[in-house]
Amino acid sequence: MKRNKARFKTTRRAGFQPANAARAKLETASSAPVTGCVVAIDGPAGSGKSTVAKAVADRAGFTYIDTGAMYRAAAYRAMKAGLSPSQDDEAIAALAAELDFEFRTVDGEPKLFVDGEDVSVVIRTPQVSQLSSPVSAIPAVREHLVAAQRRMAERIPVVMEGRDIGTVVFPDAAVKVFLTASAEERARRRYQQRLERGEEASYEEILAAQLERDRRDCSRAVAPLRKAEDAIEIDSDGLTADEVVAEVMKLLAARGVVDRE
Ligand code: DC
Repeated sequence: MKRNKARFKTTRRAGFQPANAARAKLETASSAPVTGCVVAIDGPAGSGKSTVAKAVADRAGFTYIDTGAMYRAAAYRAMKAGLSPSQDDEAIAALAAELDFEFRTVDGEPKLFVDGEDVSVVIRTPQVSQLSSPVSAIPAVREHLVAAQRRMAERIPVVMEGRDIGTVVFPDAAVKVFLTASAEERARRRYQQRLERGEEASYEEILAAQLERDRRDCSRAVAPLRKAEDAIEIDSDGLTADEVVAEVMKLLAARGVVDRE
């Protein structure tokens, strides 16, 4: 069983130095351990970030961190505690500050454990998906989770996907990618995924829910979804996942983050 562990608690407050390309370059070409190297992959829901980020992490031998899963986990715990965003923001933030996150690759699958509980499946329900957006808009929740995300990359090289990785969490990331696709294409992919999982799905409902999430993620006051000025934008419409991964690997090689594409 292949296990790749990355553990961190939101409450630890170690000093943080943003990763930079120079450090990444120095340490990746040899057998020396790579530290402080971040590949940031941002973009809207359904742009294919997860598939691409996982594959890039796998090829580069870096740890894959899904920051959306962390916001989902905070939402899941808030839901379990009977807390609602806008009424109980302080309590939700206090709860988020105490979460002990652990990313592990178990049998080739990335899993998220929170306080020892494997939450990988429960955080994907429609209720948690809905709740994760307002929970992620609570500034104090973001503060705790961003601190935890930064600590993740202090010791290990990571491919981190989210909405604000290149803009807020790691403005000095070695490589920044902003992955997009048209709303219709993104909804079509989600629709297809649901059908493949044997679930009932309506393309129109998926498209409407996605547009609503896009609107909320882009218009919130703290860390809205936007492309970092120095991010490379890749429009995945008409490209296969393998083609997008190949593009990103080219970037990593060009920046000296990996030896070969
Ligand atoms: O990527 P996802 O759908 O699993 O993200 C869940 C929610 O968390 C979504 O509403 C966007 C939000 N999110 C965020 O605000 N910042 C991140 N870095 C990642 C996700």
